[in-house]
Amino acid sequence: MTGASSPALVDRFGRVHTDLRLSLTDRCNLRCTYCMPAEGLTWLPRSEILTDDEVLRLVRIAVRRLGISKIRLTGGEPLLRRGLPELVTRIHQVDPRIGLSLTTNGIALARMASALHTAGLRRVNVSLDTLRRERYTAITRRDRLTDVVAGLRAAQAAGLNPVKINAVPVRGVNDDEIVDLTEFAIENGYRMRFIESMPLDAQQEWDRDSMISAEEILDRLGERFTLAPIERRGNAPAEEWRIVGTPSTVGVIASVTRAFCGSCDRVRLTADGQVRNCLFATEESDLRALLRGGAHDDAVEHAWRISVARKGPGHTINSATFRRPQRPMSAIGG
Ligand code: GTP
Ligand code: 5AD
Ligand code: SF4
Repeated sequence: MTGASSPALVDRFGRVHTDLRLSLTDRCNLRCTYCMPAEGLTWLPRSEILTDDEVLRLVRIAVRRLGISKIRLTGGEPLLRRGLPELVTRIHQVDPRIGLSLTTNGIALARMASALHTAGLRRVNVSLDTLRRERYTAITRRDRLTDVVAGLRAAQAAGLNPVKINAVPVRGVNDDEIVDLTEFAIENGYRMRFIESMPLDAQQEWDRDSMISAEEILDRLGERFTLAPIERRGNAPAEEWRIVGTPSTVGVIASVTRAFCGSCDRVRLTADGQVRNCLFATEESDLRALLRGGAHDDAVEHAWRISVARKGPGHTINSATFRRPQRPMSAIGG
């Protein structure tokens, strides 16, 4: 997709950016305790959210001029975006070779998986932190576990492949389910991944002691399974293991204890049209203002390149000087 006339989107450390995380809304229909307060957040006004045409224009610039070859749709909860299947169709039509994926809480997947697959979506990652209904309701503050389980099944039946499950284990909340969730994934043909919780909750209540580290996750898995490392990680945040004696794999995303910033190939666009060169960036570049101010594609491309060129070496969660980004995780898109 990168033609001779479209040099790579590269930063000053030589990292080439080919993966765009595109947030389509900051809203969510869950209230996960490690993400946002019970009352929700102040959502972006509709007028500030990029329209479908604006999203499409930025996707064209990203793919045709900047060498983006993978696009992940995120939220908030991206399935809440009105007219999503039509938007996915249009993104797919920009270049059918784009690897199009989506990260969702899964609630609306049973209803939408088939239309999304038809529209050109290839795969989904679904957040699921527990298999126990009461616990699910306590963690997400909504009684929707059965919808998520139905959504996972519908995604698989629709031909989305792979279907991955993301779980964030939190001490004393769901850390006793690491093996159960993995068994559920093995039985159903999903790919299980565990994520170290990051200091990105809107309430700023994250603490290191309640985070379950990669080492601990692997210890718990090791009590039940034999894991064999998979070498080809590429630029993926997840380290993966084969679960011996099964056709399945399990992954760990260790953003805090085994940061993978050195091989990062991701750039983010928020629902209100701001480029973020890092999940933890404290500065953004306003592409929406350029679009709405009548800028030429050259100017938009230039601003995007400058933003990536300024990317720092990595997050500083483990340093005393760490500053949280102003936006919470839900408004960044994970
Ligand atoms: P795959 O392509 O399927 O591997 O997707 P992914 O794991 O990159 O995306 P997903 O949306 O499922 O994210 C899973 C977790 O990884 C979330 O908690 C994200 O916040 C985290 N994550 C994704 N990209 C980054 C990143 O650039 N830096 C950090 N620190 N975490 C990330
Ligand atoms: N730390 C780590 N992962 C998080 N997610 C949401 N909040 C956090 C956090 N503070 C996960 C969700 C979802 C993915 C996009 O990010 O569970 O799977
Ligand atoms: Fe919604 Fe995801 Fe935040 Fe849960 S973690 S409240 S599903 S944005």
